[in-house]
Amino acid sequence: MLLAALMSPAAAQELVDWSIDEVRAIERHGPWPPPLVRDPSNRVSGMPAAIALGEHLFNDPRLSANGRMSCATCHQAGRNWSDGRAKGFGTVDLDRRTPSLWNVGYAHWFGWDGAGDSLWAQTIRPILDRREMAGSAAQVGRLLRDDKDLACGYERAFGSKAGVDDEHLLVDAVKALAAFQATLVSPRTRFDAFRDALVAGDRAATARYPLSEQRGLKLFIGTGNCDTCHFGPRFTNGEFGDVGIAFFVRPGEVDSGRLGGLAKLANSPFNLLGRYNDDASGASAARTRHVQRLHANFGEFRVPSLRQVGRAAAYMHDGSLATLEEVVRHYSEVSLDRLHSDGTPLVRPLGLTPQQRTDLVAFLRSLDADPPPRLAPPSLCP
Ligand code: HEC
Ligand code: HEC
Repeated sequence: MLLAALMSPAAAQELVDWSIDEVRAIERHGPWPPPLVRDPSNRVSGMPAAIALGEHLFNDPRLSANGRMSCATCHQAGRNWSDGRAKGFGTVDLDRRTPSLWNVGYAHWFGWDGAGDSLWAQTIRPILDRREMAGSAAQVGRLLRDDKDLACGYERAFGSKAGVDDEHLLVDAVKALAAFQATLVSPRTRFDAFRDALVAGDRAATARYPLSEQRGLKLFIGTGNCDTCHFGPRFTNGEFGDVGIAFFVRPGEVDSGRLGGLAKLANSPFNLLGRYNDDASGASAARTRHVQRLHANFGEFRVPSLRQVGRAAAYMHDGSLATLEEVVRHYSEVSLDRLHSDGTPLVRPLGLTPQQRTDLVAFLRSLDADPPPRLAPPSLCP
């Protein structure tokens, strides 16, 4: 009432109206941040000593064969926990983009193809992959036993001295690395302030969210159908989809996405059905036990979170779209021929006007905020 009285009639008319259903849809994208979750498959998840060890390991190039590459080489704090490139680069060029690690602790499938079913298992891949760190269990085991600081950090985190079983130590190292990565929670954004104000019915506060962003949000949850897949507080349902990005890696070679990822998952000795799952109840392995490999999984990739999306250097699993404007144009003009014909198409060419495209990009940019500066990690054994 007060607000309307203060504004000119023209400005008041410009306010975006929200139906009850729309308010509910927006509410589901919060609150932010969600409480941290403990990973039952990782016995040191959430423990400060393990988080500290994990942060040291994350920055330690001695995990790699040539002693020059750490996780932080590709997942840089100052570059949105990615590398600023369209595609990853290890010892050779990689076929996929390096994803940001923001909010990775809330996911349930990992990697663009879902080849990992836990954050710790996913973390093994870059250490052993020849094209990335090219390390080995023996090398990690030696490091945890012989380096004074790491050995002390290990003992604090796991309650016993590092033993002689290298594979076991590799798994413990990635569990500490996972405990650290789960602390990377992105900051609150302009969108979150709007969402909370809308839910609380605080009109003065909702009016601070620019109109273009509000119109973009309306499209996102409405005719755009974006939140079918980009659902919930992280703006992803954590599952997989095909939005019509080409899957040829080079002539004659395809990236089969989820189809290949499921084969890798089933064959991994480190999946949640294996002996390294710390969850005695077995409940954490339910998804892995029940997942089916279907032909429709060909060319599907994981639905990325859209938090901090404006900071990415490029978009999609292969970095093939350079800007958010290009992503929105893609959804506006996507070719139906390229999409799978089976099932209900969730993606269809939207035919957006230039104004609508601008609004949608403005909304996506409102999911971004500057993170607070990072402090140096605490020393392992002061
Ligand atoms: C050479 C660059 C490089 C290095 C080094 C590297 N990564 Fe990655 N990381 C990538 C790429 C590329 C992907 C995507 C892989 C895929 O989906 O096939 C990825 C994916 C991930 C994911 C999955 C994220 C998600 O959203 O599902 C996690 C977690 C991760 N990396 C953590 C780590 C950790 C921890 C280390 C160090 C042990 C590490 N990475 C080292 C490039 C790298
Ligand atoms: C069918 C599920 C689905 C729908 C509907 C959908 N997306 Fe996506 N979105 C995805 C998937 C899957 C990817 C990754 C595709 C890939 O890498 O090949 C993606 C990627 C993106 C990206 C790039 C993020 C990144 O980090 O690379 C943006 C931005 C995006 N979508 C925004 C939208 C918008 C805006 C809409 C609505 C117009 C929308 N999406 C509708 C599933 C969907």
